[in-house]
Amino acid sequence: MTPQDQARFPAVNLTLRSGERIMIRPLRTSDAAAMGDFYESVPREDFRFYCPHELTRDTAARTAAGADSPVGVVIVMATTPGQIAGYAWYRWEKPESPTSMFGICVRRGWQDCGAGRALIERIKEVSRAIGPPLMTLTVQQANPRAVALYQKMGFSIVRSQVRPVQLGFPPEPEYAMEMRTRV
Ligand SMILES: CC(C)(COP(=O)(O)OP(=O)(O)OC[C@H]1O[C@@H](n2cnc3c(N)ncnc32)[C@H](O)[C@@H]1OP(=O)(O)O)[C@@H](O)C(=O)NCCC(=O)NCCS
Repeated sequence: MTPQDQARFPAVNLTLRSGERIMIRPLRTSDAAAMGDFYESVPREDFRFYCPHELTRDTAARTAAGADSPVGVVIVMATTPGQIAGYAWYRWEKPESPTSMFGICVRRGWQDCGAGRALIERIKEVSRAIGPPLMTLTVQQANPRAVALYQKMGFSIVRSQVRPVQLGFPPEPEYAMEMRTRV
């Protein structure tokens, strides 16, 4: 997200169902350490569902280094002590790409209190103005919470398919889903 676009979509504060106050803001290049703490907190059961790459301090540093990319949007949910409680992103290959790919992960202890919904709502606001007109994702069929949340937020299932072996996890059925970001 270019610095100019980050200024168009600055930090917003909100209260989760748990009563916790949090901030949703663009990822910053200075977030490498906080992202590393977050990645390292993700248990294997969640990594099975969210595994775009290994979740290590090295990949966190790469994620943070790409914060100002013109072909991606990454937003984080930050707690008052500066911890990252979750993040969501979408990215595309080149300026004229017709579709983007979406991903989201919420930290254990912060799940099931509206964090995922709040992150996707903000992503939807940003994607009306920035990026391709169609957002895509894949989600395992064994992840009904994510499937249900995506459907409530406007994604539709377009096909069932098999996710190939990925980062040591065996193949399993998944849905491909998509959502128009603007008319
Ligand atoms: C999936 C994930 C992003 C959702 O975020 P979250 O903060 O836990 O979710 P929220 O509290 O915002 O919303 C969950 C919704 O699903 C509903 N839900 C929970 N369990 C459900 C289930 N088994 N079946 C159907 N719906 C379910 C909740 O009632 C809630 O709906 P509501 O917003 O209408 O109240 C998060 O749990 C996560 O990161 N999980 C691990 C990694 C992962 O699965 N990432 C997605 C990869 S595709």
